[in-house]
Amino acid sequence: MEASAYKQLMKHHAGAPVVIATGCPGARTGLTATAFCSLSDSPPTVLVCVNQTASAHPVILQTRSFSVNVLRDGQADIAARFAGMTGLKGEQRFEGSDWAVQETGAPVMGDALASLDCELLQAHDHGTHSVFIGLVKAVRSDSKSEPLIYFRGNFSALGDRSRAACAA
Ligand SMILES: Cc1cc2nc3c(=O)[nH]c(=O)nc-3n(C[C@H](O)[C@H](O)[C@H](O)COP(=O)(O)O)c2cc1C
Repeated sequence: MEASAYKQLMKHHAGAPVVIATGCPGARTGLTATAFCSLSDSPPTVLVCVNQTASAHPVILQTRSFSVNVLRDGQADIAARFAGMTGLKGEQRFEGSDWAVQETGAPVMGDALASLDCELLQAHDHGTHSVFIGLVKAVRSDSKSEPLIYFRGNFSALGDRSRAACAA
């Protein structure tokens, strides 16, 4: 199967975009990703898949840490910024939002729907990407907010489509 056909097919899989962030103050970087899931609760571990060409890839390996920040409704601009759609790079992507440090030293977003601060446990290469397994060292969440959704190339709020269908 052609990669382009596979990519087209995967657009039908709705995802909740996250920002994977890493690096030390003054040298931070990050990317928008949908390849994130829980691996186990004992120990609490997650996995993310990161392209080896992403600026965050070598920094995760070097610092042995990264955060996963689940975006909320209204943060499509942050998703676009960390996906490289605005031309901003590295530290510039962090401007205008609230970032702090918890356990590992990785930058953690203060106003995401949920954030997981992770220590890198394992890295497995597969083709163009690496699968990073992270041990969750600290978390924070906002129980009042709704998630951002990525579906067929667009960012939207959960329920936008059903509300539109009801109104039609
Ligand atoms: C919705 C969406 C999901 C993405 N998911 C991933 C992903 O899971 N893994 C990945 O490596 N890149 C993913 N990307 C691409 C990266 O966000 C993009 O290549 C980014 O610019 C990489 O950072 P860099 O410019 O600092 O290298 C995704 C992009 C979008 C728009």
